[in-house]
Amino acid sequence: MIRKCLFPAAGYGTRFLPATKAMPKEMLPIVNKPLIQYGVEEAYAAGLQHMAVITGRGKRALEDHFDISYELEHQIQGTDKERYLDSTRLLIDACTFSYTRQVEMKGLGHAILCGQQLIGEEPFAVVLADDLCVNPGGDPVLLQMIELYRQFRCSIVAIQEVPREETYKYGVIAGEMIRDDLYRVSHMVEKPKPEEAPSNLAIIGRYILTPDIFQLIADTEPGKGGEIQITDALMKQARQGAVLAYKFKGQRFDCGSAEGYVEATNYCFEQFYKKEQ
Ligand code: G1P
Repeated sequence: MIRKCLFPAAGYGTRFLPATKAMPKEMLPIVNKPLIQYGVEEAYAAGLQHMAVITGRGKRALEDHFDISYELEHQIQGTDKERYLDSTRLLIDACTFSYTRQVEMKGLGHAILCGQQLIGEEPFAVVLADDLCVNPGGDPVLLQMIELYRQFRCSIVAIQEVPREETYKYGVIAGEMIRDDLYRVSHMVEKPKPEEAPSNLAIIGRYILTPDIFQLIADTEPGKGGEIQITDALMKQARQGAVLAYKFKGQRFDCGSAEGYVEATNYCFEQFYKKEQ
């Protein structure tokens, strides 16, 4: 079964400069928790305990976050501030964290390929931490996808409908509807212009991938933007009928944009932070 989750986290986060000049974008806080922690919490809630993080230069803070900070913890020991670290401590105790660096920025497909040694020959999940997904009262998005994997045993991408004029920001799929929330993918394109998009069903940052994807990525030429795209490698699986696209239940915030980041912040403040105080 699926045990591991890959977090590509090597990107520069240029849209958030200067905030991301000396700090990884995955460490940007949504209220009191960094983005990456929301992603790890979602993976853990989906039953995954092995977190494989693709980092790069200047990303040390990610490793430090999922580690003990002796001085700080000693300082707050026995005070009512201790509980603020509970959520992180839980993850540190329950999960393993492995890191490898993407030495050159050659695209999301390439970043995933860098995780091959950490993942090995087993199906795995991928979480792009700047897509923050919530589903209050229901299963987390990744858990929904893992349950689908149990049934179908093939790669799965999460999708949502987006306005036509926004297709250029996403991988976009086309396929045969096999259930009201599920498509068998026949076509997928990375960041098409609205007039060239095969639909308005956009891939968001949650994937289940079967391990044959690594060789397919290795054989994939650079595509859109001169980068090795996971969408192009997945298209090769799709030709064999081996990719599903799932309209997930829940809400997704694009925390890679200032607007989505602010929306996520307001949402998490009301839904989580206030209730925890
Ligand atoms: C990546 C993928 C794209 C997907 C998107 C979801 O793009 O390449 O197919 O739709 O994530 O967030 P990025 O946003 O990294 O440019």
